[in-house]
Amino acid sequence: AHISFDSSNLDKFIHDNELGEMQAMVTAADTQLRNGTGAGAAYTDWLHLPTDYDQDEFARIKQAAAKIKSDSKVLVVIGIGGSYLGARAAVDFLNGAFFQAQHDEERNAPQILFAGNSISSSYIHDMIKLIGNRDFSVNVISKSGTTTEPSIAFRIFKELLIKKYGQTVANQRIYATTDRQKGALKTEADAEGYESFVIPDGVGGRYSVLTAVGLLPIAAAGADIDQLMAGAASAEKEYSDADLAKNEAYQYAAYRNILYRKGFTTELLENYEPTMTMFAEWWKQLAGESEGKDQKGIYPSSANFSTDLHSLGQYIQEGRRNLMETVVKVDEPTHDVTIPSEESDLDGLGYLQGKTMDFVNTKAYQAVVLAHIDGGVPVMTVHIPRQDEFTLGYLIYFFEVAIGVSGYLNGINPFNQPGVEAYKTNMFGLLGKPGFEKIGSALRQRIN
Ligand code: PA5
Repeated sequence: AHISFDSSNLDKFIHDNELGEMQAMVTAADTQLRNGTGAGAAYTDWLHLPTDYDQDEFARIKQAAAKIKSDSKVLVVIGIGGSYLGARAAVDFLNGAFFQAQHDEERNAPQILFAGNSISSSYIHDMIKLIGNRDFSVNVISKSGTTTEPSIAFRIFKELLIKKYGQTVANQRIYATTDRQKGALKTEADAEGYESFVIPDGVGGRYSVLTAVGLLPIAAAGADIDQLMAGAASAEKEYSDADLAKNEAYQYAAYRNILYRKGFTTELLENYEPTMTMFAEWWKQLAGESEGKDQKGIYPSSANFSTDLHSLGQYIQEGRRNLMETVVKVDEPTHDVTIPSEESDLDGLGYLQGKTMDFVNTKAYQAVVLAHIDGGVPVMTVHIPRQDEFTLGYLIYFFEVAIGVSGYLNGINPFNQPGVEAYKTNMFGLLGKPGFEKIGSALRQRIN
């Protein structure tokens, strides 16, 4: 396997027999997932996406990315939730910590700015200022085509594009990623002639990073999306066996469920690379929206190390014992830096001079694992060789298939998200959206 799952630090928490005793349940969950007999089966097309995708559209994505690179200094990517987090995570993971902060001349790709993922007017205002008079394009992404946050942002950036370029050229700078046939964005894209990409029916938002949703922004940022898909395809093959002895993604799913049933109800996804902070955000949506329902489910959280060892570290070591940790550890950093020698050694760091920072980072990881298991926190590790496209595609698939099976192990529908509607209904009521008048007046009475 290209990545490896390490459960050796669970000995203190799980007996040898426990994994094997999950096999029958894992086999049943695997059958539900792969035979389409489980709840939410209509949304499992992501399973074969890495090997079964629209090749013509894939070529169009690359062409669009090339056009954006040639005529834009900025790409504004508008979307929220599953229509946002994958691309954001990938751009950071693949391009290094300061890609977005580089001068345009140094960056071999447009700056990728993400809008429509909040309703903050200050954020939009600051982004418009940052874009300044630079050339830009917009990729608006919404499966439903009606989500409030991206719709508002799109109106704002569309108006800016039209003011700057006129309607015809503006339309050529808008790329719409949406449903094949329904929704307001699809209607508008057809009417205005925007170049459009499809979010397949059978792929839900949080599973959509390997569709045009993620691929266009990722390609525009200069990454090799062929390698991304190749990594995912390799993982699709690797994690296709229901046998726990052979399938590390299923081992991860089984172990986190064993731990959950023992009271470890919160899982922290952790990294030792700041460029993986957003990857954890992607994973949090994948896990939380898939599994948090019917009043149960592991609560997915995250921590960035060693940064958070100086804040959350206290809680993890000694706070309430309901935490488990999953570390995604990069075995070989993209760049390594040697700690300089200094004759005076006034800072007392002489014992580390000549060593690399990654040597220290890895020792920190080993030290933390031992400290945390001693403190009563089970730790799992997913080792990845490096931060490149192939590895990212592989890692994405690892977590996707693990979370799908994990949801079935816990007896829920991993592929719906009924709970995200409650706030929307209230918000539409309070905003006076046509059709929500009754709800609005009932809520206003409660507020007053
Ligand atoms: O996973 C989900 O369903 C959500 O996070 C959606 O992706 C998010 O609400 C955005 O929806 P849409 O793509 O329809 O704008």
